[in-house]
Amino acid sequence: MRLRADELSRFGEELGRGLSAPAVIGLSGELGTGKTTLVQAICRGLGARAFATSPTYALVHHYETADRPVYHVDCYRLRSPDEARDLGFDDMVRERAIVLIEWPERAGAWAPPLDRHLRLSYDIDPAVRVVEDVMP
Ligand SMILES: Nc1ncnc2c1ncn2[C@@H]1O[C@H](COP(=O)(O)OP(=O)(O)OP(=O)(O)O)[C@@H](O)[C@H]1O
Ligand SMILES: [Mg+2]
Repeated sequence: MRLRADELSRFGEELGRGLSAPAVIGLSGELGTGKTTLVQAICRGLGARAFATSPTYALVHHYETADRPVYHVDCYRLRSPDEARDLGFDDMVRERAIVLIEWPERAGAWAPPLDRHLRLSYDIDPAVRVVEDVMP
């Protein structure tokens, strides 16, 4: 898919509206391709409300919906996969949460299995992003 910013937001909102827990979604792609923008749109679609972010885990953002917690985890700043050990993925899975992971490959084997993996990339048109499903 080639999406302009408003289309990417709409795609994320629709994805979020259709998402039922538990679900783990990975988002990969170069800096600035729109991973966080997409996560925020998914959260809007889920009707998720921001929850206080624990300062110890600035890599983990916690949201709540009516029934399930939502976690947005950004693995970009992990220096090695082992640093993902303490992010709490096990608890998130046990809670049957919705987990949105930027750069899941950086968490290596600590990342839970992905139900869906999206890759974002730049288009020749700077206002457009390419969004593709990564096949498992
Ligand atoms: N079609 C588009 N879709 C999404 N974002 C776009 C699009 N066109 C331009 N942008 C801009 O690209 C930027 C995407 O930033 P965002 O923080 O979402 O990327 P990111 O992939 O999370 O980056 P990082 O790897 O640094 O976390 C925003 O400034 C947004 O306005
Ligand atoms: Mg980001």
